[in-house]
Amino acid sequence: MALFRTLSKRATVLRRTPHLLWRSAAMSNVPENTVYGGPKPQDPDQRVTLAHLRQKHRNGEPITMVTAYDYPSSVHLDTAGIDICLVGDSAAMVVHGYDTTLPITLDEMLVHCRAVARGAKRPLLVGDLPFGTYESSTKQAVDTSVRVLKEGGMDAIKLEGGSPSRITAAKAIVEAGIAVMGHVGLTPQAISVLGGFRPQGRNVCSAVKVVETALSLQEAGCFSVVLECVPAPVAAAATSALKIPTIGIGAGPFCSGQVLVYHDLLGMLQHPHHAKVTPKFCKQYAHVGDVINKALLEYKEEVTNGSFPSPLHSPYKISNSEVDGFLKELQQLGLDKAASAAAEAAEKMQKTKSSGGSA
Ligand code: KIV
Repeated sequence: MALFRTLSKRATVLRRTPHLLWRSAAMSNVPENTVYGGPKPQDPDQRVTLAHLRQKHRNGEPITMVTAYDYPSSVHLDTAGIDICLVGDSAAMVVHGYDTTLPITLDEMLVHCRAVARGAKRPLLVGDLPFGTYESSTKQAVDTSVRVLKEGGMDAIKLEGGSPSRITAAKAIVEAGIAVMGHVGLTPQAISVLGGFRPQGRNVCSAVKVVETALSLQEAGCFSVVLECVPAPVAAAATSALKIPTIGIGAGPFCSGQVLVYHDLLGMLQHPHHAKVTPKFCKQYAHVGDVINKALLEYKEEVTNGSFPSPLHSPYKISNSEVDGFLKELQQLGLDKAASAAAEAAEKMQKTKSSGGSA
């Protein structure tokens, strides 16, 4: 009983302090599944739900959304208290290095979704339906959405566009019991017909279309709509016309919430190719790419000059008597050169340890 109490107290502390869970997982020898667990049942006290989002929207509190594609990025979003974590098909560009979002497959997206679901326990998890997996029929759209929830561990899906068939698909997905986020304005999966990554809503006809499409998606049962790359007055009109929250990206400040792509927000991609394609609307809140480059250069330098790993990062010790025995065994095996190498290494480690310096 005392043991049980100690263990459950420890579990409570770990739940409240995720950094401890992180450290204990890193040191743990229990199987990975029992540590990370995979998708969990929704706990309304812990997970952001549609009800929380509606409440925020009613209170006029801005909703925060950021993309994530893997375990560490989703842990960061969770720790920062971001409301919605979008496993966006932007993964095709910022993770896989394609020029557009079109090539990513459903199976690739599901791998990203599962990794994110293991890391983000609090944000509402939304998974993008990738290009080519929902346009052919309503059945295809429902089947793909079911996979995103069942196999990807997501709470909701996002689809792009608002053509009549897309609206029908959105309605059918909602009727299948799956929450749907819409996406209008610049819909990157449609660059073929849009003629590239072009802002939308810049003339009367296009601006009205943005608002009308958003209204149709609301009518179909969507819980929220992303407005991408439209002028602020157009986003303001859509936000005012809709009862559901709008989430803007390159759509100005008058939306119910905002979303940015993780890598863009962090200034992670410093390669000239990516610097060229980082969208104009994106504010870089950090220059993580510079930090990463600096760390990799430092690592390369230290490995090259032999200062890494120092005794500080060579934690596994062997006593002098065990070294002696080991050397004798090596010699008996005829491995004299290996014995000399081991003896030299033991001496060096001893010396650098006692001098307190690096190797
Ligand atoms: O895929 C994505 O990252 C998105 C956001 C830009 C909204 O759809």
